[in-house]
Amino acid sequence: MKIDKKDIKIIYDEEAVRKRIHELAKEITDFYKSKTDTIHAVCVLKGAVHFFSELVLHIDLNVIYSFVHISSYSGSSSTGKIRVKSWIEESMEDKYVLLVEDVIDTGLTVKYIMRYLRKYRPKDIRLAALAEKRAHDHGVTIDFVGFELDDQFLLGYGLDYNERFRNLPYIGYIEP
Ligand code: IMP
Ligand code: MG
Repeated sequence: MKIDKKDIKIIYDEEAVRKRIHELAKEITDFYKSKTDTIHAVCVLKGAVHFFSELVLHIDLNVIYSFVHISSYSGSSSTGKIRVKSWIEESMEDKYVLLVEDVIDTGLTVKYIMRYLRKYRPKDIRLAALAEKRAHDHGVTIDFVGFELDDQFLLGYGLDYNERFRNLPYIGYIEP
């Protein structure tokens, strides 16, 4: 499939995306405030890069950064095969961990990451996602979710099609 930028329809423009992320940052701050002054935020590369950076800038706690690089998509669908390209080195033991992902679709990627993060015996682990697709019964509890969307193929704000369109400052979709 060949995608042209002009075929991409905007769902949430830059202002709407940032406004929603700032609301999530406030929710997250309020949630942890009574529990801890420090959280460990784990960004799932590459897709969550912009969501992560905008989010942590507005969380009013000490935020320690970690990054994992995972891939599971090829083109516009999940391959179901998860590849870990790089992993964290920091200890998560007894920490408050916040996993920050771009989109939850089938839920496979995030379940996989969670399973491994739990082996570090964190004190608590939560999930923040920029978007969730309603199409699948993914069975994942998303503690902080930006947007609930239909089963569209999304692009922009970190989301790609074969590595393209990540740097669009809005969330858009293409018709199937
Ligand atoms: P899941 O494992 O099926 O939940 O898929 C999640 C991963 O696939 C996410 O980390 C995304 O990077 C990618 N993904 C899922 N849906 C989309 C989409 O609509 N556009 C771009 N990437 C997507
Ligand atoms: Mg991803």
